[in-house]
Amino acid sequence: MLYSTLLAIPAFAATAFSAQLTQVTNYNNNAKAKPGMWVYVPDKIQTDALVVAIHSCQSSAQKYFANSKIPWHQGSDRKGYVTVWPSSTTECWDVSSKASLSHDGGGDSNAIANMIKYAITQYKIDPKKVYVTGGSSGAMMSNVLAATYPDLISAISLYSGVPAGCFVSASGAAAAWNNTCSGGQSTASAQKWGDVVRGMYPSYNGTRPRMQIWHGSVDGTLSPKNYDETIKQWTNVFGVSGTPTSSKPDTPERNYRMDDFGGNVEGIWAVGVGHSVPSHLDASEAWFGL
Ligand SMILES: *[C@@H]1O[C@H](CO)[C@@H](O)[C@H](O)[C@H]1NC(C)=O
Ligand SMILES: *[C@@H]1O[C@H](CO)[C@@H](O)[C@H](O)[C@H]1NC(C)=O
Repeated sequence: MLYSTLLAIPAFAATAFSAQLTQVTNYNNNAKAKPGMWVYVPDKIQTDALVVAIHSCQSSAQKYFANSKIPWHQGSDRKGYVTVWPSSTTECWDVSSKASLSHDGGGDSNAIANMIKYAITQYKIDPKKVYVTGGSSGAMMSNVLAATYPDLISAISLYSGVPAGCFVSASGAAAAWNNTCSGGQSTASAQKWGDVVRGMYPSYNGTRPRMQIWHGSVDGTLSPKNYDETIKQWTNVFGVSGTPTSSKPDTPERNYRMDDFGGNVEGIWAVGVGHSVPSHLDASEAWFGL
């Protein structure tokens, strides 16, 4: 009897304590927008870094986490960092309303910032090691977070998005689709795109997250033109030339091209790749310094 009880304990313990995606129901969110917060704390924490992984349209924290093409769960297990998975209450993230396109405006970006602040305290994260990634609508939100919460984020690696403010809704509607932007017709000078970012948090004058921008050359959902516009935006914000300082063909894989614009902006142009470019865990982690 005693013997069998002892045998049973390790098996039970392994089940009870292995890491799982878990919902945080109260993350001190004072924003009007109320997206869900999910967190994955790996069994073996090896660093005080945090990665926020933001899902695409018609997805959720749980679906994105379970998606075999989204490798951040595996990265978390391998390198021991915590991941936060925001979950939208709308079909796509709100990257169109004034509320979400403003620092502390009460929209989705504000709510995700609250998740980051909660995670920093709760999981003892180094505030200088907060990283954000996302695909498609999640990439748009990554750009919006870079503009609205530069004080909270150290680096961003986003896949197949549009510039911050490109999906703005003229009527002010939240989470609206914008055909002009998705079709690649929202073009502006680098200065204008930079002004859009600066306008989302006008009083801010501190450091900004380093930006890694991936896009496929045959993206049929969010026009590849959005790659150029996003590069213009962030090179302007960092005050560097829009001409690459170096360009590496076949990096990080065949038919991809890595363009560097100084140390803070990197573009990865995926030739022949549509929507959306698959996450490249190693290259994104390298950009984050993980
Ligand atoms: C779509 O976004 C552009 C900026 O990228 C903006 O000028 C335009 O008004 C938006 N369209 C709608 C219908 O809101
Ligand atoms: C940045 O803003 C802070 C606080 O508003 C201010 O004290 C500081 O002088 C500003 N720095 C620059 C370089 O403008």
